Amino acid sequence: MSSKLLAFGIAAIVSAGSLKPTSTSELADYFQTSFGPYAALMGELKGPTQVGSAPFLAQTNPAPFGNHPYVPNTPIVTDVPIIGQVDGAEIFKYMGNLSPYMPNPSGFGVEEYPLPPGSNITQMYMIHRHGSRYPTFGDPVPVVYFHTRISELLGNGTRFTGNLSFLNDWKYELGTEELTALGRQQLFDSGVLHWFNYGRLYDSSVPLIARTTTEARMLQSAENFLNGFFGPNWTQNVTLEVLIESSGFNNSLAGNEACNNSHTDRGYVGDGVSTQWRNKYLQQATERFRQSMTSNANWTIEDTYIAQTMCPYETVGLGYSPFCSLFTWDEWLGFGYSLDVSYYGSFGFGSPVARALGIGYVEELVARLLHHYPQPDDDSIAVNETLDDNARTFPLDQTLYLDFSHDTNMVAVLTALGLTQFAEFLPLSDPPLNHQLITSHLVPFAGRLNIEVIKTSRPVLAQRSEQPGDSVYESTGDETIYVHMLMNQRTIPLGRSIPECGQRDDGWCELKTFIKAQKENIVKANYQESCFGDYPVPAYGNITSGAI
Ligand SMILES: *[C@@H]1O[C@H](CO)[C@@H](O)[C@H](O)[C@H]1NC(C)=O
Ligand SMILES: *[C@@H]1O[C@H](CO)[C@@H](O)[C@H](O)[C@H]1NC(C)=O
Ligand SMILES: *[C@@H]1O[C@H](CO)[C@@H](O)[C@H](O)[C@H]1NC(C)=O
Ligand SMILES: *[C@@H]1O[C@H](CO)[C@@H](O)[C@H](O)[C@H]1NC(C)=O
Ligand SMILES: *[C@@H]1O[C@H](CO)[C@@H](O)[C@H](O)[C@H]1NC(C)=O
Ligand SMILES: *[C@@H]1O[C@H](CO)[C@@H](O)[C@H](O)[C@H]1NC(C)=O
Ligand SMILES: *[C@@H]1O[C@H](CO)[C@@H](O)[C@H](O)[C@H]1NC(C)=O
Ligand SMILES: *[C@@H]1O[C@H](CO)[C@@H](O)[C@H](O)[C@H]1NC(C)=O
Ligand SMILES: *[C@@H]1O[C@H](CO)[C@@H](O)[C@H](O)[C@H]1NC(C)=O
Ligand SMILES: *[C@@H]1O[C@H](CO)[C@@H](O)[C@H](O)[C@H]1NC(C)=O
Repeated sequence: MSSKLLAFGIAAIVSAGSLKPTSTSELADYFQTSFGPYAALMGELKGPTQVGSAPFLAQTNPAPFGNHPYVPNTPIVTDVPIIGQVDGAEIFKYMGNLSPYMPNPSGFGVEEYPLPPGSNITQMYMIHRHGSRYPTFGDPVPVVYFHTRISELLGNGTRFTGNLSFLNDWKYELGTEELTALGRQQLFDSGVLHWFNYGRLYDSSVPLIARTTTEARMLQSAENFLNGFFGPNWTQNVTLEVLIESSGFNNSLAGNEACNNSHTDRGYVGDGVSTQWRNKYLQQATERFRQSMTSNANWTIEDTYIAQTMCPYETVGLGYSPFCSLFTWDEWLGFGYSLDVSYYGSFGFGSPVARALGIGYVEELVARLLHHYPQPDDDSIAVNETLDDNARTFPLDQTLYLDFSHDTNMVAVLTALGLTQFAEFLPLSDPPLNHQLITSHLVPFAGRLNIEVIKTSRPVLAQRSEQPGDSVYESTGDETIYVHMLMNQRTIPLGRSIPECGQRDDGWCELKTFIKAQKENIVKANYQESCFGDYPVPAYGNITSGAI
């Protein structure tokens, strides 16, 4: 049986298997899409994934907040009034990795251009974050235990007053770890968007492999995307490959699992820094909260931070959250920055392991671009070589590569790709003017990186003419291949981070220049030492290269 037929056969079995789970038992683990032993991640301390309560927004929605007529802000309520808010501004755009998906609202420094006439997009590589989810056991603050905290305070005699009185009979109604209905919608919508943008790159005569991981929300996300892209019979068009996401496994979509130092303080330089920033920006809010309870001695800044975190979580799970309007506009900007410093220090250029966490995907990208299996040196094996050395599990001739991953891993991939645009140190005094690492612009829920390969008959001018009718091509030269990278629908100007790409209006980079830079980046990750070296935990600010 040819490998094409084999892959189609597998897709068919998976399809039937979703109706009769027992019949999937002969399938290789990496083609099984039912929830298995690694569906609930974070192993040891953790519990099962759970869905939350059913929402009842028609009953619980306090909108229109006094404004008539009312245009509903569907399906979730994000237009809550905020003290100090500028007209039209929305706090949900400043919630770091907890922001619901939005196209990057400000871009990365270049404009967008239509494809020059006669040029062709020949390949597209996508790496996509899962959609809005319930809190996880791995969250840096214990959101999932907030209800225990509140009921303990109530049990000890505290009563909430004023703006906080709702807490006297508030119930925690969120699930854990799983995708919310909004998350399903984000991925479905993205599948539809990608179908419009790239549908014709799909070649139905060649089997297509898309990849995700074993976690429940990762499977749910990939399936909803593929449903949006191909329709409900998507298993006839694509085989979903599932990489084991659990401690100790090599997984390019979850590079932390094999990288031992990422589980230690070396991997969480951003956490402590974020705590320091919280202690600063939430001082006043904490004082305000303390005034709205009868006995307040034990209410901490961390409690206030968790209360703030409840806003994005309740909103994406239940549609509306009374926690949102308890904070001022500046406090929401502070919230966003708390996530920016956290991601910078733990998964960005401020982390000694960031490049190492993302380098597996870069090894695979280079391999796919060059049409050969990854060939990392022995001290940089960040992929699963068993899977990546086989045409069935690591095809090299696709025009579409659809991968699903996590926010942390995707910020690490941007770091591993050497995008030094995001390397600027983020001080604890105040956010720098125009800082570039804005987590909500990079990895909101359902955030996505698209890498297009573009073939042109002649080189394209670095400076695009403003005159309609002027050619965008150089007058001489040969066929040229470029890379165009987009994050959340806006171009990342590659020349800004990789000078050899040149300062181009369109942000493109010649493919051969890009590949050369990425081969160098694989070495810069210093994988073995970053992940397994016994070095002192660096102070925040000591690392600015994303590697030790
Ligand atoms: C409630 O009181 C108990 C017993 O004094 C104490 O151990 C616990 O820390 C208190 N909880 C809170 C949230 O203050
Ligand atoms: C605060 O915590 C202490 C011990 O941690 C406990 O004895 C006390 O009852 C708590 N106070 C309130 C008001 O919960
Ligand atoms: C309560 O909320 C109102 C309106 O949002 C605000 O004006 C007031 O300052 C808040 N009070 C406290 C104690 O936070
Ligand atoms: C899906 O596939 C089934 C079985 O091949 C077919 O009966 C059905 O019409 C298909 N549905 C769509 C929407 O294409
Ligand atoms: C998906 O597969 C089905 C069954 O082979 C086919 O009818 C359909 O055209 C395919 N979809 C695309 C986009 O090619
Ligand atoms: C590689 O993937 C295969 C298939 O899922 C799995 O059996 C194996 O344990 C993985 N190896 C590592 C080192 O993660
Ligand atoms: C990584 O950690 C695992 C589990 O603790 C251990 O078995 C393994 O030897 C470590 N790897 C290295 C290279 O230190
Ligand atoms: C997994 O990664 C480790 C560390 O780089 C490497 O030694 C090992 O060969 C890899 N295993 C596979 C199956 O890729
Ligand atoms: C783009 O595709 C068209 C249609 O297949 C082809 O005629 C043209 O030569 C291609 N252009 C380039 C630059 O490869
Ligand atoms: C930070 O860098 C300074 C200067 O290179 C060095 O002296 C110090 O030991 C470093 N501290 C940590 C904790 O890495």
